[in-house]
Amino acid sequence: MKKIAVLVGSLRKDSFNKKIANELIRLASDSLEMEIAEIGDLNLFNEDLLENSPSSWKAFKKKIKEADGILFVSPEYNRSIPGVLKNAIDIATRPPSENVLFKKPAAVVTASPSKISAIAGNHAIRQAVIFSQVRMLPTEVYIGEVDKLFKEDQKTLVESTEKFLSRVLKEFEDWVKLFS
Ligand code: FNR
Repeated sequence: MKKIAVLVGSLRKDSFNKKIANELIRLASDSLEMEIAEIGDLNLFNEDLLENSPSSWKAFKKKIKEADGILFVSPEYNRSIPGVLKNAIDIATRPPSENVLFKKPAAVVTASPSKISAIAGNHAIRQAVIFSQVRMLPTEVYIGEVDKLFKEDQKTLVESTEKFLSRVLKEFEDWVKLFS
């Protein structure tokens, strides 16, 4: 059993990316234990707080440390990484001696209602974790026009996207196992 921490880059109640993350959790095989690690309540990163860091940081870093792999599911904001997700990455990686992302296997899924499908945001996330030597799944997973990919219940993905994401999950599972 591999533990996967899912980091969602949108705090919006009806976030498409949150729905994608929940669908990925539903579609994952029994050998992946996937759970969303909440990032909305993390105090803004400030180096001054490292000496006596907030309890929200400690609990978050513990979750990331215990995970065998990280799955980022995020929109792009202004062709880049949403601030709330960058904040979480900064918290996870400092101080360097306590970088809980160091050498973790990971994957990035980005989704947008736009046809361009958050490609720039996807690569911004990759760039933000290069310094931590994150073992990033090379497969690119972009989901464009995400608003058209849910069934009437607005929760369940249409079958073609379900199949696509199931293939991605299998790749990710094999990838995580390579490193642990
Ligand atoms: C956006 N949006 C957006 N979309 C995109 O494809 N490229 C972009 O650069 C941006 N930039 C951007 C900035 C900000 C501040 C916001 C709030 C939104 C639109 C975005 O893709 C859309 O709101 C999604 O629905 C956000 O994802 P969730 O919240 O549905 O997961």
